[in-house]
Amino acid sequence: MLRTHNLGELNIHNLNEQVTLSGWVQKTRDLGGMTFIDLRDRYGITQLAFNLEIEKELCLRARKLGREYVIQVAGKVIERSSKNKNIPTGEIEIQVEILTILNSSKTPPFTIESETDGGDELRMKYRYLDIRRKPVRENLILRHRVAASTRHYLDKQGFIEVETPYLIKSTPEGARDFVVPSRMNPQQFYALPQSPQTFKQLLMVGGIDKYYQIVKCFRDEDLRSDRQPEFTQIDCEMSFIDQEEILNTFEGLTRHLLKEVKGVELKKFPRITYDAAMQNYGSDKPDIRFDMKFIDLTKTCQGFGFDVFDKSDLVIGINVKGCAEFSRKKIDKLVDFVKSPQVGSTGLIYCKYNDDNSSKSSVDKFFDEKQRDFWAEKASCNSGDLLLIMSGEVNRTRKSLSALRLHLAEELKLRNPDEFAPLWVVDFPLLEWDEESERFHAMHHPFTSPKKEDIKKLDSHPSEVRANAYDLVLNGNEIGGGSIRIHDKELQKLMFKHLGFSDEEAQNQFGFLMEAFEYGAPPHGGVAFGFDRLCAILGGSESIRDFIAFPKNNSGRDIMIDSPSNIDSSQLDELNIKLKE
Ligand code: AMO
Repeated sequence: MLRTHNLGELNIHNLNEQVTLSGWVQKTRDLGGMTFIDLRDRYGITQLAFNLEIEKELCLRARKLGREYVIQVAGKVIERSSKNKNIPTGEIEIQVEILTILNSSKTPPFTIESETDGGDELRMKYRYLDIRRKPVRENLILRHRVAASTRHYLDKQGFIEVETPYLIKSTPEGARDFVVPSRMNPQQFYALPQSPQTFKQLLMVGGIDKYYQIVKCFRDEDLRSDRQPEFTQIDCEMSFIDQEEILNTFEGLTRHLLKEVKGVELKKFPRITYDAAMQNYGSDKPDIRFDMKFIDLTKTCQGFGFDVFDKSDLVIGINVKGCAEFSRKKIDKLVDFVKSPQVGSTGLIYCKYNDDNSSKSSVDKFFDEKQRDFWAEKASCNSGDLLLIMSGEVNRTRKSLSALRLHLAEELKLRNPDEFAPLWVVDFPLLEWDEESERFHAMHHPFTSPKKEDIKKLDSHPSEVRANAYDLVLNGNEIGGGSIRIHDKELQKLMFKHLGFSDEEAQNQFGFLMEAFEYGAPPHGGVAFGFDRLCAILGGSESIRDFIAFPKNNSGRDIMIDSPSNIDSSQLDELNIKLKE
């Protein structure tokens, strides 16, 4: 037997037991006559003790063990003289009698402890060593828990998990496809799924009724901390339902996960329309853990001779509670932030409401005390509050003030990772104008149904058509999105037409789906959660990399296995691919 116990389970109740343990040497400490080793495995750390006087040879061998050696020891559980209350095994140690080296180790390139000296790239290159560290391991365990709880919950609700293929044809989710050449079909390519969207709809035509899958998706897009080229979704679809049932079902799942994994009870999720989200927060994924809603000051601020406001389509402000005491320097820093390339705004106006009931703004020349008091009334500013105002073109101004809102929340530590504030954003626009291609794109995807009452506007006011589409937002992150689908061939055809597909293109790409719709497609809809994002937020982080066992870096590379990489010329020949000189 290589071990009788793991390294997290022995405690004072095991005193005097003879045990055999195995694990990795994390740390060796020589204290004169005694040598101590912290032995680590997935379950914890147990201290080994070697007494130079009693077992000289054994102790000398122990002193020579390098970090990360894999060893097996046999010995007796004894009480420690100096106890460590921070770990479950902290009251005992093992008086070692037999020591066996199971494997040696090169000196690791960084410290494998909770606090490490390894930089990001180095830890990515040696990810298998990083995984030995407790914080990384705990993230993977949390991920496992979320997956297991999801399966349990959806199974109880009558969903069945069905696998869909990875070698498919393009699914339009707005990114580029990763493609795979086919040896048996020269010059032809599979696309890896950006999502199983079309397949889950076909499963509904197949009568599966309630489907889910924890599934890999592949998108060739620019990477950020919340995006990976391959990521995982909890993908779901239901038949004979309306939007209300979908929202309730998946609100139920989210509530269940938070309860199971974090012990947090969530109240009913608020719902907000896309338009209201943009008006109030300048974002379709507002973080509502804190307030600072936008206040429209356009009418209040125009006509006082201040050109910047007078020439703007929109003047909006946020009330930064209790921050009137911000110094000049601090406010200048905020101005620098809004003018930085990442925000790209031209400036920021402030008004401080002082404790003595006076007020002071950066535009006092144009707005007297009475006017400033009027702003205060509109923005519910009291003594001690700071009003920050931005103006300009509608969308840009909202976007910039949204960035400032988040920046301030970060600075004021209002984004508490232990607080969970979900909300549904509903009634998204169906279409979105794309400047580059100069045409409309589906904001969600082309299979999303328009609201019945808006279909008539498809020709005259396409940008005003609302969709039966919704997103689930948690702490300012879009963790899920879905829609009620089109299940009627003619409406689907009309959608493709409005998206600029010719009949032939639509037939080539999605003929299989439209044909399926001719064989009794049920009304259906669904949602997909970004599984990695959900895990990251539950784990108190916004970087999904930390919750993926083997992630890619920001250039889409796996630096551990060195991928992507060149392939053999014979392999290229087989695939009928010629590389450019
Ligand atoms: P959507 O494209 O909104 O919808 O994706 C669903 C969720 O997946 C997550 N996500 C990502 N996570 C990590 N890295 C990425 N590159 C990435 N891209 C998306 C987000 C997002 O909310 N088929 C539809 C769903 C449906 O209509 O049912 C879909 O894929 O959290």
